[in-house]
Amino acid sequence: MPLASGGLAVNLSPVNLLFIGDIVGEPGRRAVKQLLPKLRGQLQLDMVVANGENAAGGAGITVNTANEIFAAGVDIMTTGDHLWDQKEVAILLQTEARFLRPLNYPPGVIGRGSTVWHSEKLPPVAVLNLQGRTFMPPLENPFLCGKTEVELLRTITKLIFVDMHAEATSEKIALARMLDGRVSAVVGTHTHVQTADEQIFPGGTAYLSDAGFTGPHESVLGREIEPVIERFRANTPQKFDVAKDRILLQGALIDIDAATGRAISIRRISEPLAETGN
Ligand SMILES: [Fe+2]
Ligand SMILES: [Fe+2]
Repeated sequence: MPLASGGLAVNLSPVNLLFIGDIVGEPGRRAVKQLLPKLRGQLQLDMVVANGENAAGGAGITVNTANEIFAAGVDIMTTGDHLWDQKEVAILLQTEARFLRPLNYPPGVIGRGSTVWHSEKLPPVAVLNLQGRTFMPPLENPFLCGKTEVELLRTITKLIFVDMHAEATSEKIALARMLDGRVSAVVGTHTHVQTADEQIFPGGTAYLSDAGFTGPHESVLGREIEPVIERFRANTPQKFDVAKDRILLQGALIDIDAATGRAISIRRISEPLAETGN
């Protein structure tokens, strides 16, 4: 078995990474808690990354909801434009090394946009969180920030996962094409609608425009249906409670060559939570 620079034995079998799309409210957290332990065994997962921007009541994330998700087996959490919806997210940004915000905020903003995950038997895996700017708040340019950060991360590891939190498919695809051959995978989040365009680009980067969301799918993007219709119909403000039914855990499973960082395969995941009738 090859030795890493520190003398530790490194397993060079492929790294199975599960990425979980936006976890929405209590139903989403319940899906992660109940399904992830089973999926870890079934899919022989080495690492789990999840987007948690909607984990607390569908808007933002709190310390308790983040802890629930980490305790369920998520190794690294990413976020997006709903990051600031709960004030106590500041605590997570300042104290939780496994918690990321989009990288492309201006210098001086609390939190971090990337991290390198270390485990005993695997090579290090970097996770990078970026946010798009098309039909979204105007952050710094993710193409410039992202490219620089990837080159920095590649001095540590070739295994790099990118969550591109963005609205426009063109922006997501263009960013992934720019990073082809420099990262293992780019998976989109934010639209909450799982796309069917999973593929591996010529340079070895796996891609999916959107991972979908983890939560109640008898809904509009996780929220109760009628208030959303009324908002569009009447143009009046409505309260958007998290919906309840047909809970799915959605995401993408990526197999990464541990020596080269190239993706071997990518497939969509959409796993129903069995209704208990309780
Ligand atoms: Fe979002
Ligand atoms: Fe979201």
